[in-house]
Amino acid sequence: MSSSPPAPRGALDGIPAYVPKPPQPPSEGPSYRLFLNENPYPPLPSVRDAVLAASAGSNHYPEIFPTRLAGALAAKYDVPLSHVVTGPGSVGIYQQIGQAFLEPGDDVVYAWPSFEAYPIMTRMAGARPVEVRLRDHTHDLDALAAAITPRTRAVLLCEPNNPTGTAVGAKALEAFLDRVPGDVLVVLDEAYVEFSRSEDAVDGVALHRERPNLITLRTFSKAYGLAAWRVGYGFADPAVAEALRKCAVPCGVGRVAEEAALFSLTVEDELLARVEEIAKERDRLRDRLLAQGWPVVPSDTNFLWLPLGDGADAFAHALEAHGVLTRSFPGDGVRVTVGGREADDLLVSVTAGLAREQDADSS
Ligand SMILES: Cc1ncc(COP(=O)(O)O)c(C=O)c1O
Repeated sequence: MSSSPPAPRGALDGIPAYVPKPPQPPSEGPSYRLFLNENPYPPLPSVRDAVLAASAGSNHYPEIFPTRLAGALAAKYDVPLSHVVTGPGSVGIYQQIGQAFLEPGDDVVYAWPSFEAYPIMTRMAGARPVEVRLRDHTHDLDALAAAITPRTRAVLLCEPNNPTGTAVGAKALEAFLDRVPGDVLVVLDEAYVEFSRSEDAVDGVALHRERPNLITLRTFSKAYGLAAWRVGYGFADPAVAEALRKCAVPCGVGRVAEEAALFSLTVEDELLARVEEIAKERDRLRDRLLAQGWPVVPSDTNFLWLPLGDGADAFAHALEAHGVLTRSFPGDGVRVTVGGREADDLLVSVTAGLAREQDADSS
């Protein structure tokens, strides 16, 4: 009898392991989570009531596919029900995409740095990541088009991009899509679309109607503030959507999660008013950081990107020491989620001190 456990698929070798950590004692003083691009507002009381009411049915399974939510999304966006896909967060839909469309040996082209799930889902499917560096913190559409070869099975576009907050805009994106062969799947990730204030913002729902190779993905995690409930959705050509639904985990969107999302659609005005506040606070925070001399890229999302290069880790660690938890991309920059006023005021007071230290060092 062999003493070693069965080996997982070789495709998993390049995927970072999630190692559960023992629970940490609560830290002293306030702590602000500005590292996951969460919505800083807790759920509206009416959403909480809806969640509580729905939890009374917790002994029942959800439907295999969340038909009521899919129907509500189809009606809201005036899209046939057969175009709607859902999953436990949009990351759940990425797994469906990997299972439905990627084979070992396929190439998946995407910009980098971008959403960290892209290399994971690509490798998980046994496909090969082809990463194309951003230019000016933005998707380099010419370089992405040049990276497409006969081996390319999918192109992933994050619009606006995580972690840099930049968008290429509708005109440039459409010109790029015209250069993508029709048999290459394009995944347009619009997780932050509601935070954009650009007149040239991409509308993936409209785009998917004209382009059968395009899937647009959205989420209730960010603008709708339901990250804990894990509800993502998207729209695609019916044949593509059917393939994705075949690969979905049955009952993957829970009953309470579905109700939370459905109810949120009925109070969307209140939720989008909060999004408006976040967008204003984002611009205010950027102005304050710029005034201190930090480089901050204009953002169409609920976070800011500071391209600090080798200074990224030191910046993030200094903030962490004051209870402000941000996300460092060592050698590239720091991503800071827009928090509430209290969190942002603390952040700005810490960065003011750091800026003074830097000035003193350089003089
Ligand atoms: C670009 C992008 N897509 C998708 C997601 C994940 O969304 P969800 O919570 O729906 O899985 C994130 C979360 O950070 C993201 O940044």
